[in-house]
Amino acid sequence: MFDQILNLRNSLNKFVYKHILKRVFFSMDPEVIHDRMTKAGKVIGATSPGRLFLRMSFGGYKPELRQRLAGLEFVAPIGLAAGFDKNAELTNVLPNIGFGFAELGSVTGEPCAGNPKPRLWRLKKSQALVVYYGLKNDGAEEIAKRLSVQLPKVRQTARGKDFVFGLSVAKTNCEATCDRAVGVADYAKAYRFLRNYADYITVNISCPNAFGGQPFTDKESLELLLNELDKFYVPGKPVFIKLSPDLSDMQIDELLNVADRHKVDGFICTNLTKKRDNPKIAEGDTVPEVGGISGKVVEGMSDDLIAKVYKRYRGSKIIVGVGGVFSAEDAYAKIRLGANLIQLITGMVFEGPSLISEINLGLARLLKRDGYKNIAEAVGVDVGV
Ligand SMILES: Cc1cc2nc3c(=O)[nH]c(=O)nc-3n(C[C@H](O)[C@H](O)[C@H](O)COP(=O)(O)O)c2cc1C
Repeated sequence: MFDQILNLRNSLNKFVYKHILKRVFFSMDPEVIHDRMTKAGKVIGATSPGRLFLRMSFGGYKPELRQRLAGLEFVAPIGLAAGFDKNAELTNVLPNIGFGFAELGSVTGEPCAGNPKPRLWRLKKSQALVVYYGLKNDGAEEIAKRLSVQLPKVRQTARGKDFVFGLSVAKTNCEATCDRAVGVADYAKAYRFLRNYADYITVNISCPNAFGGQPFTDKESLELLLNELDKFYVPGKPVFIKLSPDLSDMQIDELLNVADRHKVDGFICTNLTKKRDNPKIAEGDTVPEVGGISGKVVEGMSDDLIAKVYKRYRGSKIIVGVGGVFSAEDAYAKIRLGANLIQLITGMVFEGPSLISEINLGLARLLKRDGYKNIAEAVGVDVGV
């Protein structure tokens, strides 16, 4: 009965979003809309009636989807992917809209204005975004300061108390960090400043838009980086590596070999794709020359990498599946390919925030349909030997 009410609420929310709000939002510049939504979210999330309103409008968990992974308790398997809340401004909002976790950032050692505008585009027919932000963020010191004030308050709220906040760290997008030693030091600075506020840390080695490319997708460089980051590892605060969908099988194998020698608890599959020859790019969508592509364009690549990583570890490492999740079926497919947790951004932009609760309810239904008692039983069932 309660589920039926939630389903009805979600359908209504989705109707309003798709037929009214999305039409307005999609007629405006995507970065402007994102900034305005962030401002509005901060205001609504600042008060307890505002948070109650968010919970009533978008909340809704299913107890059977609760999981304990790498020592952390996830109330729901759906999380916000890195890049939506780059400056950790929505910590009051995110625990109240159905997510079980959120990855803040990516945060870099130094503040960074990002690449020149425009740097965010929609590919409407392809159901994707093109992102060229270039790691715009306020920098590790400022964001650590912000979290030191905000998080203790969030932890006192009903949903914030056991919400998992991950922090994604990257190296500052500038010429200086192209020097490997400077780059390593920059990652280490972000890690050191943020580790006290994070439930987990993601090392983002796959930003497609930074000066000098992705130098830490080379095995020697990753070895050096992880040698340094290992020194700051906090037991109980898992470390994940975020992988690019554009690497060859051999490159991925080499990176996983390196990760196996270090304090790495899992992998996030995947970041944006830079490839422009993707058949999922619909005719009529003009793709800018710069930027990484999200959503339905990266979905298949993400699914392939999840299965590949799962085949290697068979559950001994955590896999977070991300890329093109627009429905409970999409999320379930990733789980069956080996993902323990799911993240999203683009699906929420195209389908509205009710998608999160819709996925929670839908996943519970799909697990029951297939005779599974919990997510763990379904993880990797579609991956052969
Ligand atoms: C606007 C935007 C900004 C992003 N910024 C980051 C980032 O700072 N760090 C990162 O690791 N990934 C970033 N990403 C990639 C997402 O975390 C995610 O891996 C990718 O978008 C695929 O998921 P989706 O199809 O659900 O959007 C960004 C994506 C978007 C759409």
